[in-house]
Order: sequence, then structure tokens, then C-alpha cells
Amino acid sequence: MKIGIVGAGNIGALLARKFAAAGHSVKLSNSRGPESSGDIVRGTTVKAVSNEDAPKDVDVVILSVPFAKNPDVAKLLAIAPSDAVVVDTSNYYSARDGNIPEVDAGKPETVWVSEQVGRPLVKAWNAVLSQTTAEAGVASGAGNRIAIPIAGDDAAAKKVVADSVHISGFDAVDAGTLSESWCFQPGTPSYCTELTTDELKLALADASKDRAPKTAMRSCRPLRTGKLNLPGTAWLPTTGPCQPDLFLPAVDSCGWHYITTEARRKN
Ligand SMILES: NC(=O)c1ccc[n+]([C@@H]2O[C@H](COP(=O)([O-])OP(=O)(O)OC[C@H]3O[C@@H](n4cnc5c(N)ncnc54)[C@H](OP(=O)(O)O)[C@@H]3O)[C@@H](O)[C@H]2O)c1
Repeated sequence: MKIGIVGAGNIGALLARKFAAAGHSVKLSNSRGPESSGDIVRGTTVKAVSNEDAPKDVDVVILSVPFAKNPDVAKLLAIAPSDAVVVDTSNYYSARDGNIPEVDAGKPETVWVSEQVGRPLVKAWNAVLSQTTAEAGVASGAGNRIAIPIAGDDAAAKKVVADSVHISGFDAVDAGTLSESWCFQPGTPSYCTELTTDELKLALADASKDRAPKTAMRSCRPLRTGKLNLPGTAWLPTTGPCQPDLFLPAVDSCGWHYITTEARRKN
């Protein structure tokens, strides 16, 4: 498979190395140009390229840029083959991305991205921390393999992405259409909670649009209860997402006990 990844940060660089290690042809770009990605591609077959080169002549384009930067990369997709599968890994955190009124009003995040970039998208890898992607992937068939939700409107595109998720070391669970993809956005029971396939299906079914965090909560850290039949997710005030030092066990004001993804992995 030929894969072009736009965004060479935590997620883009990790996925690039994984796909290349599995024998795929991978191009990787960022905002600063290919010369800035020397450390990332050294010792791999990943090719550091310009933004304009990354989507050219590939089967899959992965957009892995900060949420609010997605409109900036729209023009690159005009360069991608019309039948290329396009993936969105992004999550919206208003504290980082600024307020986007349509998303604040409830538009699913990847629906908004899809409108911005003018292409159908498959949402994937957003609901797993980069640390998990880096450390917790295992071969297909291994026990307790962590599952990742994906969503999109095109079954064939989702199959390509599901296969790619397997290559990255995780099971893939189809969470429905793009408009249903709110059910694994930040703060929902599936978000960054490192669930197995069976657990993830329950967590997706347990997602509630009413309980999903609104804008005000978007700078908060999602944590998960130890049992799926409990409310599922809580939000603790933090300064931002994805900070390993903020993985703290906690009890919320209702007395619900929460464990962290870190604690869960060790258990
Ligand atoms: N970190 C996580 O644990 C995690 C987990 C799941 C999903 N996500 C989501 O996935 C997305 C990427 O996350 P990340 O942690 O990998 O972000 P990151 O480390 O901040 O990297 C972002 C990358 O996007 C590139 N970029 C920004 N604007 C660009 C543009 N106009 N053209 C090309 N490249 C551009 C940056 O280029 P430069 O290198 O030149 O600055 C950088 O390489 C975010 O939306 C995030 O919410 C993150």
C-alpha cells in the first residue's frame, strides 16, 4: 500500500514508522518541510517529503494535524488521487484549537473536518493516546488486544482503514457513519480508555450525546471507570490533553471511582 501522511507529530510519525516497518511505502510531511524530519525518518524507509508530495499517487492519505489546521491542508487533497482513502486522526480541544462555533454547537468533529477539506473521511486513531499507539500495539490474535473505533460513510474505505489499524497493532471496531462518530470523541467512554473489542462495543453503545462533554469541558482529561456499567467517563480539570503526568486515580464529587488508562494497563 502507498500511504501519504500529512503531519509528522506524535501520531503521524508513529503511524509512518509502523506502516513502513510492515513493508508499506510511506511518505511523511509537516509544516516545516522535509529537511526538518531527519530524526523521524532516520533508520526507516519513510520518505520525508513536502506537503505537496505527500498526497501524490497514494492509496491512503492520513491527515494528522491539529484540528484547526485541517482547513489549511484542504488544498493538498486536490493533489491526491480521487479514489484515495482519506483518514482524519484529529480531536477538537477548544483550549488549543480556538472555538469553532459549528463544532461547539454539536456538529461531529470529523463531519466538520470533512466539510473543510471537501472529501469523505474515515475517522481513526483519534481515540487512542500516542503513548498507547507507541507502546501497546500487538500482533493480530494476541489476547486482550486493544481496539480502536473507526467511522465513515464508505464501507470499502472503512475496510482499508480497518486493515491499516490492524497493521498498527490494534483491532478495529466499526462505530458507524461519520455523523455517528461523536460517540468516540473526547470525553466519551471509548475515548483513550484502552478497551478490547468486546469492551469497546459496549462503551460505544454506552455513549450518550447528552453526557458527552461540551465545549467547556474540552480542556479536560477523560478518565474511565473500572467497570463498564458505571457512568463510564469523567472529566478532571487539566491544562490540556495527553499529559501522562495527569494520569491520576480519582474519585469524583458523586463518589464514582475512576482508574486511569495507565493504571488499567498495569492491572
Ligand atoms: N497526541 C495524541 O496522543 C493524540 C492521540 C490521538 C489523536 N490526536 C490528534 O491527532 C492530531 C495530531 O496530533 P499530534 O499529537 O500528532 O500533533 P503534533 O505532535 O502537534 O503534530 C502535529 C503535526 O502537524 C503538522 N502540521 C501542522 N500544520 C500543518 C500544515 N498546515 N501542513 C502540514 N503539516 C502541518 C506539524 O508540523 P510541524 O512538525 O512542522 O510543526 C506537526 O508535524 C491532532 O488533531 C490530535 O488532536 C493526538
